[in-house]
Amino acid sequence: MASGVAGDLLRTKPIEQLTGDAGGGAHGLERTLGAMSLIALGIGGIIGAGLFSLTGIAAAEHAGPAVVISFAIAAFGCALAGMCYSELASMIPVSGSAYTYAYATMGEFVAWIIGWDLVLEYAVGAATVSVSWSKYVVTLLQGFGLTLPARLVHSPFETVQLADGTTTHGLVNLPAVLILCLISLLLMRGVRESARVNAVIVVVKVAVVLAVIAAGVFYVKAQNYVPFIPDNTGTFGEYGWSGIMRGAGVVFFAYIGFDAVSTAAQEVKNPQRNMMIGILGSLAICTALYIAFAAVLTGLVRYDTMKGDAAPVATAIMQTPFPWLQTLVTLGVIAGFTTVMLVLLYGQSRVFYAMAQDRLLPRFFAAIHPTWRTPVRSHLFFMGLTALLGGFLPISQLGHMTSIGTLLAFIIVCAGVVIMRRTHPNEARGYRVPLVPAAGILVCLAMMVSLDGETWLRLVIWLAIGLAIYFGYGRRHSRVGREQAGQAVR
Ligand code: ALA
Repeated sequence: MASGVAGDLLRTKPIEQLTGDAGGGAHGLERTLGAMSLIALGIGGIIGAGLFSLTGIAAAEHAGPAVVISFAIAAFGCALAGMCYSELASMIPVSGSAYTYAYATMGEFVAWIIGWDLVLEYAVGAATVSVSWSKYVVTLLQGFGLTLPARLVHSPFETVQLADGTTTHGLVNLPAVLILCLISLLLMRGVRESARVNAVIVVVKVAVVLAVIAAGVFYVKAQNYVPFIPDNTGTFGEYGWSGIMRGAGVVFFAYIGFDAVSTAAQEVKNPQRNMMIGILGSLAICTALYIAFAAVLTGLVRYDTMKGDAAPVATAIMQTPFPWLQTLVTLGVIAGFTTVMLVLLYGQSRVFYAMAQDRLLPRFFAAIHPTWRTPVRSHLFFMGLTALLGGFLPISQLGHMTSIGTLLAFIIVCAGVVIMRRTHPNEARGYRVPLVPAAGILVCLAMMVSLDGETWLRLVIWLAIGLAIYFGYGRRHSRVGREQAGQAVR
């Protein structure tokens, strides 16, 4: 019996079967995305709440002007993981992201763990961004003299001040719920429509970042860069090199999303080539933009004056002679957040679609709409779940869960590359760079360890729930397991 269980947990899905499943056909997903759409998808998923809310805080509280180094370190970790993603994505061009790669390399059990874990990155990540989006919208409306009822724009975990001066708790973050529902509905409508909306907004979003850089670069004061690496205060993570590392852990959130490109593999033309361009191209463009943005911001505003400043863009613009840019930029930022949610929710539905096709989850999640050709039920389910999260939980808890879930996924993907190089040395792959997977595991592990104990505990609880579902359902219904045992797949 023991060996039977071990056999179940370690069974892998052969690559030929993976690519065979991905055939698409009249009832499957459509191959409509090219390299440019993928780069746009990546940038759409990357630039968001991290850059527009965390840069000032990371500089003020951890790294000082050396936050640019924090951005570079976080980018390095992501690039290593990104290279592993694209190596696997170029070998296994099917929907499902890290989940699918794990199924081919490390067996069903690890695949299940990672698929379950990706809910933290994609669904919880989308919910995190919805809360930040809501804050920007509320502030913008306030600027136009429109104040929404405080209890309807805060979660029950947040304290709000009422008009009569008394304090109470929020009820629900209604704007967050609303935007998550709207985006889910757009995604249900079709991938081509969603990609089009994404491409337009990505142009706006990149323009906003470039505009802030261009408006600010000539007003940078050299003395704001001194000291470039402020002396450590004696506490780990408060300036000095430990501060730079902690800063990297904080701004890591800003890079999350590039891997969602890999979930589109089944809808990509020529995935062997385009996947790599999409993943690494979007990451490279965003890294350059982030470092330039952080350099301009810390040159315009002294780092120690930005403590708790969650709107560094506004702070930067106020230091230039162009304060009228403010409203335009805020509108761009708000639009920009929507594509992050769009891409993350897209990735989420595709992961559950792949898991349901393998029958590790009920068939419900694999149902494709006959005309829209999208997994509508999967979208509906996550519309409900993310609306609950975004509506009722505070941003900090959501954000930390997103980071830890993503880092775990990256580590498993890097480990998958190591295994795949041993087990499938001759399989066609885009490229292979030595040492990358091992370095990726180390850098991501270091960032994971820097997260707090409570976040770790939540991760363990989440994984334990996942285990219960796997042993209660997935293991018995597994398509691979049933086929290997000669049983009918249900
Ligand atoms: N990287 C995405 C953001 O910063 C998740 O919003």
